Amino acid sequence: MSDAAAPNAVDQSRRTWIAITCGAGAVGGVAAAVPFVSSFAPSERARAAGAPVQVDIGGIKPGEKLTVEWRGKPVWIVRRTAEQVAALPKVDAQLADPKSLRKPDELTPAYARNEARSIKPEFFVGVGICSHLGCSPSDRFTPGAQASLPDDWAGGFLCPCHGSTFDLAGRVYKNKPAPDNLEVPPHMYLSDTTLVIGEDKKA
Ligand code: FES
Repeated sequence: MSDAAAPNAVDQSRRTWIAITCGAGAVGGVAAAVPFVSSFAPSERARAAGAPVQVDIGGIKPGEKLTVEWRGKPVWIVRRTAEQVAALPKVDAQLADPKSLRKPDELTPAYARNEARSIKPEFFVGVGICSHLGCSPSDRFTPGAQASLPDDWAGGFLCPCHGSTFDLAGRVYKNKPAPDNLEVPPHMYLSDTTLVIGEDKKA
């Protein structure tokens, strides 16, 4: 894709992620439209200022992804299946930074510097913005041969803008335009079903 096409692609990506966010709201259980609208503006101002976001993750089924907004960015919460977690080490040799050693303070909090890049192996929490030019990658969770992906694809994400690929821990594959893994934002669990994004436990 030419450079000239990139801005449109980014805009399209943003539209896509807004649409995904609307869908995610339904998963999270937005009960009624009117009260939601009346409280929307101050909530959004607080979020834009960087306020932590509390998320009910109890409704995410294995293999599903919920997208929420934090600081104006899409944050993905992927509930990985046991098979998906087990498959992560198998692609290490194909990744650019399998151990999350690059820009650790920027991209991977200490508690996520592990094979699954997460606090709990079951849940991956990552900012859904490609480290190349900022498009939002698409879900390609189904393993195997398919369009734009290698025949031995293990499941992950494909950035539609210039073809960068990421595994289900947001780790970028080698020899792609994107230089780095996806960012893991600060986060912590208040309970088994309540996640906070934008804040973590201090040492
Ligand atoms: S923005 Fe270029 S590959 Fe993702």
